[in-house]
Order: sequence, then C-alpha cells, then structure tokens
Amino acid sequence: MKILVTGGAGFIGSNFIHYWLQTHPQDDVVCFDALTYAGNLENLKDIENNPKYLFVKGDITDRDAVFDAVKQVDVVVHFAAETHVDRSIMDPGIFIRTNIMGTQHILDAVKEYGKRLHHISTDEVFGSLKPEDPPFTEKTAYDPQSPYSASKAASDHLVRAYVNTYGIQATISNCSNNYGPYMFPEKIIPLFISNLMEGKKVPVYGDGHQVRDWIFVDDHSRGVDLILQKGTMGETYCLGGGNEVKNIDLTKKLVDLLGKDDASIEFVKDRPGHDRRYAIDYAKAKETLGWEPLVTFEDGLLQTVEWYKANQEWVARCKSGDYQTYYDEWYENQLAMKH
Ligand code: NAD
Ligand code: TYD
Repeated sequence: MKILVTGGAGFIGSNFIHYWLQTHPQDDVVCFDALTYAGNLENLKDIENNPKYLFVKGDITDRDAVFDAVKQVDVVVHFAAETHVDRSIMDPGIFIRTNIMGTQHILDAVKEYGKRLHHISTDEVFGSLKPEDPPFTEKTAYDPQSPYSASKAASDHLVRAYVNTYGIQATISNCSNNYGPYMFPEKIIPLFISNLMEGKKVPVYGDGHQVRDWIFVDDHSRGVDLILQKGTMGETYCLGGGNEVKNIDLTKKLVDLLGKDDASIEFVKDRPGHDRRYAIDYAKAKETLGWEPLVTFEDGLLQTVEWYKANQEWVARCKSGDYQTYYDEWYENQLAMKH
C-alpha cells in the first residue's frame, strides 16, 4: 500500500510516519508538507534515506499539487493544518485557507481518483464542557469556540458532505490533546518544558483550572491505524487519553520534573474565549476497533521531558525565525498583562 501523509513534517504527522514505517514496513509512505513554521524536516531526518519513504514539498492550498500527489497513492491520511489556537486568534485567515479550503482540495482529489481518506480532527470542534458534563462522544453536537476549532469543524462537515453527496470513502477521528516528541514549542507542554530548561517562567493563562484530556501521540497513531484497518466508511471515531488534567496540575508536574519550584509559575491574562474543559469518551473506538490508550501520563510525560532535554538544539531552532515574531506579539503581551 502507498500512503500519503499530509502535514507529515509536523508534530503528530512525523510521529505517525515513524510509527507507520515501523509497524507496516512493506508500505510506501509519502509525506506531503508545505513546511510552514510548524513543519520541520529534522523530524524525519532519520528516515530520509529509507527507500520506502519520500518527501514532497507541497501546499494543500495548491490544487494541482494536491491532485498530483493524491493520484499516486492508495490512501490519504490528512493531518496538514494550522493548529495553534492562539495563532488563530491573532490571524484567522490562514486557518480558513489551509484547514477549510485546503481540505476541499484533498476531498476533490480523493473524489476524482477514488482514493480512501482518513481525516484527522480534534475534540475542540465540540466546544467546552462544564465540570458536570459527560465527556464528548461521536454524537455530541458541534459547538466550536475558536477560529481554529471552527475551521476544523468546517473541514469535518465538508468530509461528511462529500461522503453523503459523492460517496467518497472516508473516515474521521476527533482526538484529544496530544503530547510527545517533536511537538512545536508553542503548545503548553513543550513550551513549558523549554522555558523551564532555559530558566524562564511559564505563563499559565487565567486561573489554570482549564482541563485538557492528554493522550500520548503514539496512542493516537495506533488509533488511526486501527481505523484504517477496521473502520466503517463514513464513520467518526473519538480518540482520547481518558486522562483529564487541570493546566495548573500539569504545570506543577512539569515544574517538578524539571527540578524547579513554584516561583517559575506566572499567572497571566487569560486566552480570549478560552475553552474550560475537553474530555473524550472513547467507548466506540474501544468496542468497534479494540482501541484504547496504552501509555500512562506519568510514563509519557517523563519520556517527553527526556526527549526535549536531549534535543535542546531542535527546540532552539524551532524558537528562532518566524516564531520569534509570534512570541514577541503574543507571549510577551500575555506576560505584560498579569492578573
Ligand atoms: P503541527 O502544527 O505540529 O503540524 C502541522 C503540519 O502541517 C506542519 O508540518 C505544517 O508544515 C503542515 N502544514 C500546514 N499548512 C499546510 C499546508 N497549507 N499545506 C501542507 N502542509 C501544511 O500540527 P499537529 O499538532 O501535528 O496536528 C496535526 C493534525 O492533528 C491537525 O489536523 C490538528 O488539527 C490535529 N490534532 C492535533 C491535536 C494536538 O494536540 N496537537 C489534537 C487533535 C487533533
Ligand atoms: P494548547 O497547548 O495551546 O492546546 P489547546 O488550546 O489546543 O488545548 O493549550 C493547552 C491548554 O494550556 C489551554 O487550556 C491553554 C493553556 N495554555 C497556557 O495556560 N499557557 C500557555 O502558554 C499555553 C500555550 C497554553
């Protein structure tokens, strides 16, 4: 089988490619990625000479490039997206272009060539839970609250519309917050690890009582693999870590793991429209695919911290260039506006 992984040079995509080449060595993997600030070929350096792997620099907003790439494979796993909520608050336009219009090109191409698609989405499309609410399921109504989650929700609706209207062969997964190696140091876990390694403070938004359901990235990859093997066309699968953690508790764990104390924690102005709680009920994936998360938060977090400690130059390179402009505009503004 030949599989096209869009966004394969990003965090989850690069972990997925490593996972796939290890678990399906007979398959050919093509990584299709525009190499935005979040895409990094260093993430795939160890496999660049693997004859079963090919990198194609391409943008999903470029219709011809998408058609050329999709034509040559059997299956498309579509990770490519703009993914950072804070960036979507600053500049929604690129999220609309990439996440919605880019996905339309993927859909048109899989429709044209009759290919199988798995579309990667997020639990953020369901909006925010109250403390007493049950976790999200596949039946939860969409209620996205940020420009990022609204763009992902739109892309999910388009996938379903193409299944319903044109009969394309597609599945969707809505996964909770991932963590692990190669995560760009703007999201909370790698940002806080890298700040603590550099002796800087960590900016906790608002009261820090927001809840995220953390899943180790390899568990996500295994879920996608099982959906490709056993999933029913047109169906959606919720994947989660079964691991609800308050941001402040996560922060304290990271502070401990990095050998620092609470003086490193700085409460800053809240994110506008900040979703309070996400959590996933993965019963459908467990019952129909035999999937459940296997990596405990303790093991996964320790493994992640060790990876960042061993890859400080990777972090430093991520934090240069475009990131610096973003950091100046956003984080320093947040830090300047403490409670
Ligand atoms: P990321 O930001 O680390 O990587 C995104 C990748 O997509 C990068 O390699 C980037 O270069 C590429 N890309 C961006 N725009 C592109 C374009 N126009 N054409 C081609 N490539 C482009 O993101 P991630 O955290 O790895 O997320 C991957 C997918 O998983 C996204 O669809 C995201 O919505 C979804 N997701 C992420 C999480 C999470 O916790 N990170 C959770 C659930 C779902
Ligand atoms: P993030 O990693 O951006 O993922 P998402 O918004 O997609 O869930 O943020 C995770 C949580 O951490 C979210 O509640 C916002 C919070 N957060 C901070 O408190 N400080 C930070 O510097 C960042 C980046 C996030």
